[in-house]
Amino acid sequence: MPGDSLRAFIHALPKVELHVHLVGSAGVDAVLALARRHPSAGVPTDAVELREFFTFRDFPHFLKVYWAVQSMLTDRHDIESLVLGLTDSLRSQNVRYAEVTVTPYNHMVDGMPADELLAGLASGRAEAARRGVDLAWCFDIPGEKGLAAGRETLAFALTERPDGLVSFGLGGPEVSVPRAQFAPFFAAALEAGLHSVPHAGETSGPATVWSAVRDLSAERIGHGTSSADDPALLAHLAEHRIPLEVCPTSNLRTQQVATIAGHPVGRMLSAGVIVTLNTDDPPMFDATLEGEYLAVAEAFGLGAENLRQLARNAVDASFLPAAAKSYLLTEIIATPTPASPA
Ligand code: ADE
Ligand code: ZN
Repeated sequence: MPGDSLRAFIHALPKVELHVHLVGSAGVDAVLALARRHPSAGVPTDAVELREFFTFRDFPHFLKVYWAVQSMLTDRHDIESLVLGLTDSLRSQNVRYAEVTVTPYNHMVDGMPADELLAGLASGRAEAARRGVDLAWCFDIPGEKGLAAGRETLAFALTERPDGLVSFGLGGPEVSVPRAQFAPFFAAALEAGLHSVPHAGETSGPATVWSAVRDLSAERIGHGTSSADDPALLAHLAEHRIPLEVCPTSNLRTQQVATIAGHPVGRMLSAGVIVTLNTDDPPMFDATLEGEYLAVAEAFGLGAENLRQLARNAVDASFLPAAAKSYLLTEIIATPTPASPA
């Protein structure tokens, strides 16, 4: 106590993850196995060297490593095994539902046939449900690849519309990748009933978040870290109930913040913004969702009721149907509060 009981409480809370990338969820053993099959990808085949490989100088360096892992995925079996690896990790943490970001354009540029990607997602999702974890998909545009990627991602999403596809996103670098250029694709995705969830304010200033809100009609913001530098923006996000998908350990590992205690999540919470906690690319960042709850609790002095609220926020901010939301919320409310320290 109190660390152990808080840990147990965090585990017992039914949780939802809203920001996790499929490629970035490849477990260390899975990456090592892929690396042995694809020596030319330049990914280490030794566990110690892989941990070193996953030590990032900055965000551009992280993306290069991420792309190297992505380049090794070739068929439905690779995709299904990523989905099931993620599923087992989520299940072991009592995460019941996750919205998983997939970047179809990148897989196709790397040579994976569309049918292979779709088959791996479908079989993986069906097996995940059997294992007690519901998965939904976000198809996102790799922003650095420009308008062609926007066009193709939209066309793929709307033509294929696989079961479980709920949202449309935008990832990759932000500097020199204006959000507004993708406005027509987001408008069409929204029109077709998908939700808008672009990354913004992870690696650039609050103007990018404003643009995501105004130009892309963002319903949630991926990261939104730099929103905290603009009080008017924080007030806008709070007033319009636009949640942030905050990924503290990710921001630490890509050198966007120096410490978790220095992360602006404390200011976001104080401003009344709807904060959700997420892992982004868990094995690459040596992160778990339970670890994010614990790290934020320790850094900002949050107790069980604050953590319960964060778990509720994720359910509210999700794109689950109303009945599934209320089922999870009931369970979260019923999770016993740990006994206070003697
Ligand atoms: N793709 C994978 N992880 C990402 C991140 N943290 N930001 C933007 N694009 C990404
Ligand atoms: Zn992300």
